[in-house]
Formats: sequence, C-alpha cells, structure tokens
Amino acid sequence: MSNYHIKHLEEYYQVYRKSVREPENFWAEVAEEHFIWRKKWNNVLSWDFRKPEIKWFEGAKLNITENCIDRHLRTKGDKTAIIFEPNNPDEVAQYITYNDLYDRVCKMANVLKEQGVKKGDRVCIYLPMIPELAVSLLACARIGAIHSVVFAGFSSKALATRINDSECKFVIASDGSYRGSKSIDLKGIVDEALEQCPCVQTVLVVKRVHSEVTMKAGRDIWLQPLLDNASGDCVPEIMDAEDPLFILYTSGSTGKPKGMVHTTAGYMVYTAYTFKNVFQYKDDDVYWCTADIGWITGHSYIVYGPLANGATTVMFEGVPHYPDFGRFWQIVDKHKINQFYTAPTAIRALAKQNISFAEAQDLSSLRVLGSVGEPINEEAWHWYNDIIGKKKSPIVDTWWQTETGGIMITPIPFVTPTKPTYATLPFIGIQPALMDENGEEIKGNQVDGRLCIKFPWPSIARTIWGDHQRYKDTYFSAFDNKYFTGDGALRDEVGYYRITGRVDDVIIVSGHNLGTAPIEDAINEHPAVAESAIVGFPHDIKGNALYGYVILKETGEGRDHNNLRNEINQIITEHVGPIAKLDKIQFTSGLPKTRSGKIMRRILRKIACKDINNLGDTSTLLNPEVVQEIIDNAL
Ligand code: WTA
Repeated sequence: MSNYHIKHLEEYYQVYRKSVREPENFWAEVAEEHFIWRKKWNNVLSWDFRKPEIKWFEGAKLNITENCIDRHLRTKGDKTAIIFEPNNPDEVAQYITYNDLYDRVCKMANVLKEQGVKKGDRVCIYLPMIPELAVSLLACARIGAIHSVVFAGFSSKALATRINDSECKFVIASDGSYRGSKSIDLKGIVDEALEQCPCVQTVLVVKRVHSEVTMKAGRDIWLQPLLDNASGDCVPEIMDAEDPLFILYTSGSTGKPKGMVHTTAGYMVYTAYTFKNVFQYKDDDVYWCTADIGWITGHSYIVYGPLANGATTVMFEGVPHYPDFGRFWQIVDKHKINQFYTAPTAIRALAKQNISFAEAQDLSSLRVLGSVGEPINEEAWHWYNDIIGKKKSPIVDTWWQTETGGIMITPIPFVTPTKPTYATLPFIGIQPALMDENGEEIKGNQVDGRLCIKFPWPSIARTIWGDHQRYKDTYFSAFDNKYFTGDGALRDEVGYYRITGRVDDVIIVSGHNLGTAPIEDAINEHPAVAESAIVGFPHDIKGNALYGYVILKETGEGRDHNNLRNEINQIITEHVGPIAKLDKIQFTSGLPKTRSGKIMRRILRKIACKDINNLGDTSTLLNPEVVQEIIDNAL
C-alpha cells in the first residue's frame, strides 16, 4: 500500500525516508494505485541533471482527462467538480458536476478537432476566470494539444511574444472580462497582438461581457454555436507519459519569457498527490484557490490536482475588493469553503481593512489556510492565523515555482507543526540542498545559502520550449548536478526552511514574477530615455514595488518629470502589462557601473531600500561619483 494520505508526523518521516531511499518504488506505488493507465511504464525514472534530461514513467500511456474526469463519473458523476463564482455577487454561481464537466470538455475538444487542432499543436488560451478557461485546458489535454495559457492581464505585446514563441496556430479568447467594477476589452488586446502573429489561423471567441467586438472574417469564430452542435463524447487521445501537456511562460532575469514545458504523467501524479496531502482534502470538502489559472498555481491547484482527486474546486472571476473588501469572506461563507489558498499580497491588502469585513461572515468551515507566491511576513501570517483561521486552521506556507510544477516545501496540516514565515519541511520525495558561493553544499542546521534540489521529482519542467540550452544554463549550470531554484533560503535548528527571496534579478510584485530586463527594455523605448535600471523595494501590500532609475537623453532634459513618469508607466503597461508599473521613478545623470559595464543593481537596490549605510566598496566602480548624486536625489 502506498501512503497516499499522510496523517501524522511519524508517518511523514517514515514516508519521506522511503521516498528518498527508494524513489522509484515509492512513486511507482503511488502511480499504480491512484491513477488509471492505458499502459504501465517500462521504467519509472531515468535522469541526468548534467545533460539535463529527466523522464518519469517512460513507456506509460494515459490521458490526464480520464484521470481528472472519466474515472469519477461512475461514483461521483453528480458531485460538483467546479463552482464558478462570478465577479458580480448578484450573478448566480454555477455548479458544474463531473457529468457536466465531461460533457463540456468533450464538446470543446470536438470543436477544437473540427477546427483542425491536432495532437502536439499549441493552443494559446487568453481567457478570464470563467468556466470555459478550465474547460479549454482540459479539452486540449483530451485531444493531446499543448495548451499555453497567457494570463489575461498581460498586454498585447506580451501576448504576441508568447504566441510567437510557441507558434500557436489557435487562440481561445473572449470578447472581454469583468474585473471589479470595470470591464476589459480582451478581444481588442488579442486583435492588436495578432497583428504581430502570422502563425495564428483561428481565434475562438467566448461571449462573456456581450460587448461589441470586431470579428475578423476567416479568422475569428464565436464559440457557442460550435459547442451547441458538437457531440458530448470525445474519445481521449492516448498520450505517452512524457508527451508535453502544457507550456507556461515565466519571467527570466534576462531576455524573453521562458516557456516552461510540463509533461503528462509525472505532472499528474505529483500535483494530485501534493493536493491531497497539503490540503488534507476529504471527499465532501469544498476547496478554493484564489489564484488565476493564468499562473502555475491555477494550473496545478485549481484544475489538475483537485480534479485528479475528484474534488470540488472553486473558480472565482473577481477581485478581493469588489464590491467591497468583504468579498473573499463572503464567498468562504457562501460556499462553506474548507481549504482556502491565497497569496501574501492579498492577505496583506485584506489585513489593512476593517476587521468587521471578516467578522461579518461565518468562517467556521475553514480547516486549512494556504499561502503561496512569495515569502509571507510575520504580521500577515499572524493576522491570517488569528483573524481568519481563529488559531485552529493551520497555515500551509507552500514554496514552489512554475518550473517545479507542484508544491515542494510545505507543512502538511495537522501533521507538521507550523512556524511563522517558514515553509517548514520538504514535501515527500523532495531533496533540498543549500549551497554556498563556492558551489559546496552547506550541511547542518542554522545555515543559509542558495536553494537547490538534488534529485528529480515527477513534476519538474522538462525543458524550455525551443531552447533546451537556456534550460540547462538557467537551472543546471550554477551548481553541478543540481537544480538551482534562484531563491535563497535558511534552515533552522530543526531543519525547517525559510525562503528568503530571489537571488537573481527577478522581482516578485504582488506575487507576480517580473524580470527586470523586459521592463527596462520597455522604458528604453521612450524617445527621451537613454538608459534605465529597475530594482525592487519593500512595499507593505505588494511585498515589493518597483523603483526605476532613468537616464534621460538630451532631448528629454527640461521636460516635466511627472509627465515623463506617466508616459514611462504607459509604455510599460503596453509592453508588459499594468502589473509592472513603477511606483517610483528617479531621473539621474548616470548609473553605477562596474568596469566591465555591468549595472551594479546591488547599490541601486540599497538606495531604493533606504539602506545607504553599507553600500560596500564603491571605489572600484567606473563612475563612483554618481552614487552620491543618486543618494542625494533618492525618492
Ligand atoms: C517565490 C509560484 C517564499 C519564490 C508557485 C519562487 C515563495 C517564486 C513562496 C516562484 C513561498 C513562491 N515563500 N517565496 N511560499 N512561493 N515563492 O513561478 O521566489 O510564479 O522562486 O510560482 O515565487 O514563482 P512562480
């Protein structure tokens, strides 16, 4: 018997030890007992981090939607699979049963097939948090197409880059989206993006806001009439374990976004197993993750992990502050949520509001509270624990990444004693290591270093779409024979991990990873800008906010700085999206540079953080005099 469901600490240690000593046996047992396979694997694991090449369950055949839908129909057909809670609380919620989900996914899959989508084709999905989003992912998976979801808050340029990178021929989009009191013209954004995307043949359009949109003849098609005529049965495409399931883009510290490729079997096994344990999901529970499916958290822990366990998962279309800051708690009460999974940035924003918003609702259904996306600070942790969890619902501070596919370091609720700001222990099968700057592993406790993982787990991304070399350079080159996460961490006296943050040029703003390079590139597009550098500085709600240092060209000197600031943020909104706007913009005559011409962000970061007493040695800079000027004019 595999230990699918861990219930106490002794069991955790015992299963953990087994997963490290005999990883292949361990994962084979989990896979064998809890999933359906069209054919079993020949080999559980082959791997080489130096190449890098990782294969799990090689030779196995399956379709992930049979595991997420079909197999539940006999016993749970009438159980609610997805609760859709609309942006506007006056619009009725939808309760989509497993039978309904089967029907909707098959219809969508048949529509895709009729439109010519084939196994291995990439389908870009640019939709708000409406049921069609989850259905589109599953429909792609049903027919073996590779979905590439782009978060519907990204700008047309960001969308175009992602569509072109993976050469999507098909796009699924909507006329618009609701976001609080606003509605957003998504179709307009798509149209603009597609001017740059010759590869796209067909756009299927979901009607959501019923706004006027232009439909381009021969390219754009309303989805609903096609669905109305489609059959509600679709034979699943039988996939190899290592066939790609999806591509999801994440920001790098340099260059264009990285299309992380996740494959089928390992991803399914790991997300399902972590979901069950990290949320201690029981059959009649109602689980809600507030993330958007445009991010990995939504892929793994709104769609695949929950559905593979036959769970009831909530999709919320709206925002935490509409119609007021009580919205989340009202939804918890309305649907009697048992597990609630959100991000520190949301917790901090809600903690700032009057406590009556939380107190007005009955939160007693809550059993487990989750946090993801960035370090959760102590104050937010306690507010979450005291006010929302009433000190009886353990907080699972889950550390993981787009690249890891599933949760890596986390408490198991009611099993692992929690500790504020600590993600605590590695999950089953995960072998972390802290490394020093010389590439040596730091053993023992009460140490800190760069966080690496020494051994593959089933849901690790297998490559970067179209650029395996970059995959190797980014994750497997900093430390020999180890996966490097890009994060720093410390390990306390009992072996608990605390993630201290990125050690590269990625800045996490409101839980969104932003690479500095694409934002700087956008700023530099402004005709008056000569050069720029951005860094993060602490912000009490967003975690980090962006601080930009901008050198103007001669033509820009003498112009009104506030106008320039607005224009720069406008350009960033167009190129990257509104999430990347700068909170502070300082104009400067120069940027501190090394003799080889590299911008010393460390110094800029310290100035932005008002930590100017230990800037370190600046005398070796090419232009040390500029540092004082920047300090004098700091915002
Ligand atoms: C950060 C999100 C501290 C970290 C699932 C990581 C965290 C990056 C935590 C990945 C946490 C995520 N505590 N930091 N619990 N969870 N991070 O790819 O820096 O959007 O490398 O995946 O978020 O962000 P991504």
